[in-house]
Amino acid sequence: MSETVKIILEGKEIELPVILGSEGEKAIDINKLRDLTGYITLDIGYKNTGATTSKITFLDGEEGILRHRGYSIEELADKCSFLEVSYLLLHGELPTEAQLKDFEDKISEHTLVNEGLEAMFKAFPTGSHPMGQLSSMISALSLFYPKSLNPHRDEDAINRTVIRLLAKMPTICAMIYKKRHGHPIVFPRNNMDYVTNYLNMTFGQVTEPDYTPDPVIVSAMNKLLILHADHEQNCSASTVRMVGSSQSNLYSSISAGINALWGPLHGGANQEVLEMLEQIKEDGGDVEKWINKAKDKNDSFRLMGFGHRVYKNFDPRAKIIKKACDDVLEKLGVSDPILEIAKKLEETALNDPYFVERKLFPNVDFYSGIIYRALGFPTDFFTVLFALGRLPGWISQWQEMRREKQPIARPRQIYTGEAPRPFVAMKDR
Ligand code: SDX
Repeated sequence: MSETVKIILEGKEIELPVILGSEGEKAIDINKLRDLTGYITLDIGYKNTGATTSKITFLDGEEGILRHRGYSIEELADKCSFLEVSYLLLHGELPTEAQLKDFEDKISEHTLVNEGLEAMFKAFPTGSHPMGQLSSMISALSLFYPKSLNPHRDEDAINRTVIRLLAKMPTICAMIYKKRHGHPIVFPRNNMDYVTNYLNMTFGQVTEPDYTPDPVIVSAMNKLLILHADHEQNCSASTVRMVGSSQSNLYSSISAGINALWGPLHGGANQEVLEMLEQIKEDGGDVEKWINKAKDKNDSFRLMGFGHRVYKNFDPRAKIIKKACDDVLEKLGVSDPILEIAKKLEETALNDPYFVERKLFPNVDFYSGIIYRALGFPTDFFTVLFALGRLPGWISQWQEMRREKQPIARPRQIYTGEAPRPFVAMKDR
């Protein structure tokens, strides 16, 4: 494998170094391209551009492979708790029993939110979007912990911020769910594990102190959070890195990531999946008609929950979630016409040349939306659950960027606007 590549530009030959990843990925290092040639590269949407090297997650879209720190997503989802995987992402190694216990204990000390933050939360309009509430609450944490605002000087302050975020995120997510239903907040219980505690704060009631979530639901939620934990340089993780690269604090970087995830082409897709299924049901359930709309170039309709920027094979997470989906629906005895439409949509698309040729398989959002609906979450809450799972991944990406002392992210552009022209006074316009 050559260590360099040669490029001939305007008759001049230059050599650029080649970067080889530990899984055989190859890149041309263009750090010196502009100095050597005056040229930059242009790759709108960064479809072919690496923003960083990273040791956290490896994806192979062609082979449908997803690994965190070298461990396969299949094994992690099957054998770990969400906090074990969070520890792995943050520290690079699976925790020993003692390390996990210490991690869990530290998190359980910080699960409550400041009363002042709760007062702010109470002012949010009842019908406001859960993702707007979540990003506001996470950003507002920076107001209550001023010592956490300088992320590059105090490692202990950063570690406290990491623990606070992991601890308070489930509490805040549950508060948002309770607000939607006009129910009183259920406080965290430190005798419960992370996922059971979240489900208790969400579905438990202050009048029902002995609520115990169904173990099938706890297992499904644990799996769902693990499957969403990290996904290398996706839109929201890149946003977290971009904001953090200016040496902004971790709360504001995570809040920015939540806002990026809100978008319907990214994390908002699971909400869009259910809204699409509702639309098809309201329209009479004619799946063929909607498949044809998705294929019609003159129709802006896209099949939400299908396709992926990286996976040109089945999203490995979708395979695992599909199994969990079937288990939950069977356990809950849910028979929902929406879910029947989803299965028919999946079966039709997987056998249609348009989708097969473009390798548009169901992605993680297609099935997660179905499970969340079966669990009773409102549709516009689904992306909050995506953010709850993605939090340790975002933090890990931010930590890696910071520890490697990466420079502030500042892409260039190619200007295609007006040539220089004289100013025109208002009276002459
Ligand atoms: C996530 O990056 C990550 O890692 C994200 C994520 C994570 O864990 O962080 O995996 C989570 O965001 C999953 C993706 C969720 N989004 C959706 O489900 C929205 C619907 N899907 C898309 O809009 C689309 O597939 C994207 C945005 C996901 C990917 O788009 P690309 O890679 O930019 O593909 P493209 O837009 O260039 O499309 C290629 C072709 C086009 O047709 P042609 O011009 O070649 O004829 O496929 C078509 C597109 O029109 N196409 C679709 C389609 N997705 C792509 N046609 C119909 N329905 C779709 N869903």
